Amino acid sequence: MTTQRTFIALDLPPAMREAVVSIQETLRTRQPDLRFTARDNLHLTLKFLAEITAPATRETEERLQRMQPGPLRMRLTGAGCFSPRIVWLAIRGADALQRQVDEALAGLYAPEQRFMGHVTIARTRRMPDRLRRALESLEVPDLEAQVTSFSLQASHLGQTGTRYETLAKFALPES
Ligand code: 2AM
Repeated sequence: MTTQRTFIALDLPPAMREAVVSIQETLRTRQPDLRFTARDNLHLTLKFLAEITAPATRETEERLQRMQPGPLRMRLTGAGCFSPRIVWLAIRGADALQRQVDEALAGLYAPEQRFMGHVTIARTRRMPDRLRRALESLEVPDLEAQVTSFSLQASHLGQTGTRYETLAKFALPES
């Protein structure tokens, strides 16, 4: 049976996306050799589901549709890395929704053991001290924004990069 690489994402509010892009631009002037995440691909992964079948995708979508999440505000809190490959901006505010997603999908996928809300802003092959220092000194604005949706995404890995496809969107209420 065919499968597709799938994950659940928190969609960045426009103001947050602009702030993240602007931080990427600052970092690019200091670290031009990083591979920066394309603007349209910026997201926070709530749960990575790996390769799943079409029936599993449908079941996942139905369960997420039945969730009744509360309002969510996300906040940028700093820059850092998962050495040696991932450069991220930390995000506060997504933990409760992540747990709700895990509960909604109980029996289908194992719950996350170590969730850390982040947006991957760049990838690298290695993490020299120079890059670590650049991340430590990177100025991250104290920005908070209301999130209006999360989504089920398919990830298509291609020769020209990764393309994400929104399979379903789930609204979050306003606070
Ligand atoms: P990231 O949030 O660190 O970038 C789509 O591939 C998304 O799923 C990516 O944003 C990525 O994480 C996340 N992802 C990819 N492979 C993963 C894995 N093996 N385990 C957990 N998350 C993964």
